[in-house]
Amino acid sequence: MTEDCPTVIDLTVDDRTIQAPEGSSVLAACLAADIYIPHLCWLEADRPADAPAACRLCFVEIDGVAQPVTACTIAVEQGMVVHTATDAVRDLQKTALKLLLSVHRVDCKRCPANEACALQEIAAFLGTGLGCKPFERVLKEPEIDPRHPMLDYYPNRCVLCGLCVRVCDLRGQGLQLSFAGRGFDTVVGYFGAASEAAAACRSCRACVQACPTGALVKKSAPER
Ligand code: SF4
Ligand code: SF4
Ligand code: FES
Repeated sequence: MTEDCPTVIDLTVDDRTIQAPEGSSVLAACLAADIYIPHLCWLEADRPADAPAACRLCFVEIDGVAQPVTACTIAVEQGMVVHTATDAVRDLQKTALKLLLSVHRVDCKRCPANEACALQEIAAFLGTGLGCKPFERVLKEPEIDPRHPMLDYYPNRCVLCGLCVRVCDLRGQGLQLSFAGRGFDTVVGYFGAASEAAAACRSCRACVQACPTGALVKKSAPER
């Protein structure tokens, strides 16, 4: 095999044999084979060693591994046997989703992501709805951060997946977005707030397009 032709790995997922290039994550292999695993923080460019594993949604079980693991951080191995829909996996995914929803303003009818929202898709897949019980819902204030000259940021729609920050960084034009704050107060912020960000941000919309929810909205175009 040459570098241009990676070794192909065979693995079994939910009793189906699939193939994936060596070095792929279990998540990438499953998604490429049309086996859906809920996920929010994964980019196609992610390798298992550098996936941030922030959303804690993509759990699977693997034969020979004691606990469920995040599919985005595990590399495929020859003969690996993966289960994507066990009770333990579903319990973890439902808990992760409810924790996200416990800090989320669920107001879909007034959200630009309505009917194109990853949270809605995952909730429907898991059959949970968009409630957060038994967790209490706690929201941030203010509802909108309007400081960016081209974007409005809605912290209570943000799942802190980091995709906006990462796609902005990947463009290599200077990072305009970053996480700010800690713990519950973590939000997406802007380098230089109004002035520097205004000059450097070319309004490419990569961050808006990457956002799996309605947390980033272009000021001049409310519709995404
Ligand atoms: S981000 Fe998704 S779940 Fe939240 S309000 Fe918007 S459409 Fe509804
Ligand atoms: S603004 Fe969107 S893309 Fe950025 S961290 Fe929040 S949910 Fe993720
Ligand atoms: S996609 Fe694996 S933890 Fe988010």
